This record gives sequence, C-alpha cells and structure tokens, in this order.
Amino acid sequence: MKNTRFENSFKSIFGDQIGISSKGESFFQDFYTLFTSRSEEISDLFARTDMSRQIAMVKASLYQMVTFYASGVLTESMRGTARAHEHLNIPPQLYDIWLDCLIEAVALHDPVFDEKTELAWRLALSPGITFMKLACENSIRPLEEEKARDHTPRARE
Ligand code: HEM
Repeated sequence: MKNTRFENSFKSIFGDQIGISSKGESFFQDFYTLFTSRSEEISDLFARTDMSRQIAMVKASLYQMVTFYASGVLTESMRGTARAHEHLNIPPQLYDIWLDCLIEAVALHDPVFDEKTELAWRLALSPGITFMKLACENSIRPLEEEKARDHTPRARE
C-alpha cells in the first residue's frame, strides 16, 4: 500500500531514521504540550512523568505503529506499549484525542501540511490506534493467545 503523502510528511519531520536521529524532539514536546493541555484528566496522568524519557519511548512506539501499518506485523514492543497502559484505565476516546493532538503537531511541523496530509496520517496511524483501543477495552490477553492458536481453517461440524 503506497501512502506517499504520509511518507513525505513523516520524513520532513523526522528524517529517514526516527529511531536513531534526534530530529523530531521538538515535535514530541509540542505534541505533549497539546495533549496535556486538552484536559485535567490527561495532565494529571502525566504529572509525575519524566518527559524526556517519555518522549524517547513514544518516538519508538510511533515507529512501531508505522511498522504495524506498513507490514501488518504486531511487534512485541507494541504489545508492551499496550500493556503499559493496561493499569491506567484510559477511556478509549482519549486515544482519539491522542491522535487529534498528533495531527495538530504534524500541522505545526510539516511546512506543506494540508487536508490530504491529515488524511494520510490518520490512515497510517489508524491500525495502531485501533489496536491500543482494543487492548485497553478487552485486555490484551485474547490478542496474545491468538499467536498460539492454530489458524488452519476447519471444516464445519
Ligand atoms: C496510540 C497511542 C499511544 C501510544 C503509542 C503511547 C505510547 C506510550 C509509551 C511508549 C509509553 C511508555 C511506556 C513504558 O514506560 O513502558 C506510554 C506511557 C504512558 N502513556 Fe501512552 N501512548 C498512547 C496513548 C496514550 C493515551 C491516550 C493516554 C491517556 C492519557 C496515555 C497515557 C500514558 C501515561 C500516563 C503513561 C505513563 C507515563 C509515566 O510513566 O509516568 N497514552 N505511552
């Protein structure tokens, strides 16, 4: 699946290597400023957070979300990210606000941002957001057990 708009926008913000480059630091600072100013509920959750560690972690998890979109591979570290939210009791609608704020940060950092860029980012991050929502609603155990299950189609009894 080709999503050139997304790829170009992503590269204009992070460069080619999000994992190892320091490019994009200010992107995540702006993202968390936007996100935590959305509600007291959100700012309270991050009240005692070491934000420089948080930014490094979320940068890596964004990369995992993009991998999930591009290849369909749900990495162990994405499961880990979902697990890290399990005990926080985050209502699913906060994941939509998370994505809205990420798009707002993209608008600030991509000089050629427009409506098509927004759509491109929303398409790219939707699988990851859906996974995170499912994980927080159902707990991630059912998704983990799926790995061990035999996927061979069986004849109906
Ligand atoms: C797809 C969306 C999200 C991604 C990719 C993401 C990513 C992450 C990552 C990588 C961590 C660090 C986990 C660790 O320490 O092992 C984290 C922690 C956290 N996330 Fe998220 N997150 C998302 C959505 C949310 C939402 C919607 C909230 C709700 C407010 C939230 C609140 C938190 C909090 C409170 C922490 C812990 C901070 C601390 O250690 O003090 N996250 N997130």
